Amino acid sequence: MASEPSTSTSEIQTDTTEPSQLEGTILNLIVAGIVGGFAISVDHLYAWYRNSHNESLLNETLEKGTQPDVGISEDKLVPRPVIVERLKKILLPHEDQSNYYVICGEHGTGKTTLTRIASREVGQNKKKGIQGGRGVIYVDIPADIEAFGEAFGKALNFTFEERISVTAQLRKKLLGDTNYEFKPKWKRAMKAFKRASAVYKKNNPCHQPSVIVYDNINCLVHKYPEIIDILQDDAKDNADDRKYIAVFVSSEDSVLRRMESRSSAWSRAKKPVIEIGDLSKEESMKYLTEKRKINEVDAKNIYELVGGRIVDLKTVADDFLAKQPFEVIKRQILMEVEEKFNTAQLLQKQLHHEVGKKAIRALLDSKELSFTTFKEFFNNYEEASKVLETNIFAYHPEKNTVSFQSQSVKCYIQEKADIFIK
Ligand SMILES: Nc1ncnc2c1ncn2[C@@H]1O[C@H](COP(=O)(O)OP(=O)(O)OP(=O)(O)O)[C@@H](O)[C@H]1O
Ligand SMILES: [Mg+2]
Repeated sequence: MASEPSTSTSEIQTDTTEPSQLEGTILNLIVAGIVGGFAISVDHLYAWYRNSHNESLLNETLEKGTQPDVGISEDKLVPRPVIVERLKKILLPHEDQSNYYVICGEHGTGKTTLTRIASREVGQNKKKGIQGGRGVIYVDIPADIEAFGEAFGKALNFTFEERISVTAQLRKKLLGDTNYEFKPKWKRAMKAFKRASAVYKKNNPCHQPSVIVYDNINCLVHKYPEIIDILQDDAKDNADDRKYIAVFVSSEDSVLRRMESRSSAWSRAKKPVIEIGDLSKEESMKYLTEKRKINEVDAKNIYELVGGRIVDLKTVADDFLAKQPFEVIKRQILMEVEEKFNTAQLLQKQLHHEVGKKAIRALLDSKELSFTTFKEFFNNYEEASKVLETNIFAYHPEKNTVSFQSQSVKCYIQEKADIFIK
């Protein structure tokens, strides 16, 4: 009998070696599976740990409030207790509060300073050792959208790691998994705030909603007006649901006009809007003489030049104390005002000079005009609105009136009486 071809032996031999390679592969796969599975579990466990840690940090922040820095020492601060008390009432809403708020005022009237003071002090009871600011998140809005997200996150002490494990990030990167699409930071911060707000409302004994202050909201109006719309819609929905109360602080009329034009969302805004204006003469003199140690006579001259606009009082006081002669300071201020008149096209032979002059004369007589009266000096509503948008006149939404934008504007007009008055 012919012997079996040797190949079969080798085949048999091959057969005996194949299972061992297969086993090796399987073994490798099992080991890789175990190691991979373990790594994924560790990754998920770590992500879970980070998420719960961040979530508890978030809840703690809401519990304490943002506590923003006021940025000015007590010895330089003119107290404005009436406004601060009014703001504190807003920042301590009751359980059933169903409106959001809008605070406005010309540039540099002290809105940020007062809002920060109220955000820190609301609910404070020094005698009982109770710290103020509970439930109040304060966001100072920068003009850049990415920075807005960062600022929002910072106000909340939020780290932007929520619910994203390393494997999820890898899936997104390698497989383009869109389930893990990253939203803009401000939207993620907003979502986090809402989660923490629900916890805050449930846990505090009076079930008060939390408050979010969007300071300097006007920074978004030129490049990202649609974000203001989203924030306003959300403020309306959440006021309706008694979940959180929003407070918008703005230095520009355009924000107010945009918000007003959106009638459904505007219907939940508390009216009238709150306006923060200039210091009174008494407060201004107190600032200059007591806080800045300027003598009465010079203080009076400074007040007559810039009035009670705190940002201007501070700048002029700084220059004056740095030994700049008053006449030089005055010339500089009036030059700046002239530039504003130029931009507003109110100078001689410019587009709005003749109609503007009539409004100016009327305002010199009565200090404040109703918006309807002001409008009548112009050829049409658009023209009146356009001139009102410039920094010569100021609209006061609380009273629906118009005045000069500042004392320095009035001062400039008086200096140029031959052009504007005669
Ligand atoms: N009550 C006050 N006493 C002393 N200084 C103040 C007071 N309020 C504000 N200031 C100072 O005046 C300047 C302008 O204040 P602030 O930034 O609060 O104004 P604002 O209305 O928020 O300005 P903007 O409209 O530009 O946002 C700051 O330098 C601030 O420190
Ligand atoms: Mg401000």
